[in-house]
Amino acid sequence: MTASIIDGKAIAAQVRQQVANGVRDRIGKGMRAPGLAVVLVGDNPASQVYVGSKRKACAEIGFHSEAHDLPDTTTQGELLALIDRLNEDSQIDGILVQLPLPGHIDASAVLERIRPDKDVDGFHPYNVGRLMQRMPVLRPCTPFGVMKLLESTGIDLHGLHAVVVGASNIVGRPMALELLLAGSTTTICHRFTHDLAYHVGQADIVIAAAGKQGLVKGEWVKPGAIVIDVGIHRLPDGRLTGDVDFAVASERAAFITPVPGGVGPMTVAMLMYNTLYAANVLHR
Ligand code: GUN
Repeated sequence: MTASIIDGKAIAAQVRQQVANGVRDRIGKGMRAPGLAVVLVGDNPASQVYVGSKRKACAEIGFHSEAHDLPDTTTQGELLALIDRLNEDSQIDGILVQLPLPGHIDASAVLERIRPDKDVDGFHPYNVGRLMQRMPVLRPCTPFGVMKLLESTGIDLHGLHAVVVGASNIVGRPMALELLLAGSTTTICHRFTHDLAYHVGQADIVIAAAGKQGLVKGEWVKPGAIVIDVGIHRLPDGRLTGDVDFAVASERAAFITPVPGGVGPMTVAMLMYNTLYAANVLHR
C-alpha cells in the first residue's frame, strides 16, 4: 500500500480563507477587525520563526496584530503587567505568549494570567478543563489542527484505536482529549512506556508528537493506519523531517502527513480560527 498524503498546506489554506471571509463579514457589518497580541520573550531562533509566521498570517487575514518583543531580561512581574494590560484592551481578542519562556519565568503563572476568553492557545487550565469535560471553548491549536486533518480523510473515528506518542501539555495530552472527544479508543505513550513498537503496531491512528527525530519506525505501522507526524527537526543538510520514518511508514499507512506541509501549517491556521472565534462568540 502507498499512503495518500494529507495535504496540510492546502487544508490550512482553506481554514485561513474561511477566517478571512469571517473577518470581511465583520468589517462589512461595521465591526472592528479581530485583534491578536503575540508576545515573544528573548531571542530563541525557532520561536522567532514561529512568531514571524503567526504575525504574517495575521496581516494576510486582516487581523489587527500587535507585536510585543521583550528582552530575555524581562522579569516575570513585567510580563504579567503586560498581560494584565492586554486582558483589559478591548481591541485584543487573543493573547499568545510564545513558549518556551526564559528559565527565570514561571510559564504556568503566565499562562494562568491570560483571561480564559483571550487564551487563543487553549493552554489555560480553564480551557484544558473544558476540553476534558467535553465542552471545549478555546482548543489548543496543534491538536485542533490535527483533528481537521483527520476529518479530511472522511474516516469515522468512533471506536478506532488512536495511539498518541508524547504526553506534553502543548500537544500530547490535549491531543488525547480531542481523540477521546471524537470517540476514539485512546492510548497515550510517553518516555516511560514499555514496548512502544507494540503500542504503535496496535494503532489505527498514530499521532507522533514526542519531539524525537525518527522515533516511530515505519515497520511498526499497522497496514492501513492513519499516521500524523507532529515532529519537526532540521537535518544537517537543511531539510526538515519529523518523528516518523516517512519512507517506510508511507508504504504501509493508508494516510500520512508529510513534514513539512502537514501539521505545521495547521497550527497557525487554527490560531487564526480561535482568534476569530474569540472575537465573534466570546467578545460580542
Ligand atoms: N511553542 C511551541 N508550540 C507552541 C504553541 O502552539 N503555542 C505557543 N504559545 N508556544 C509554542
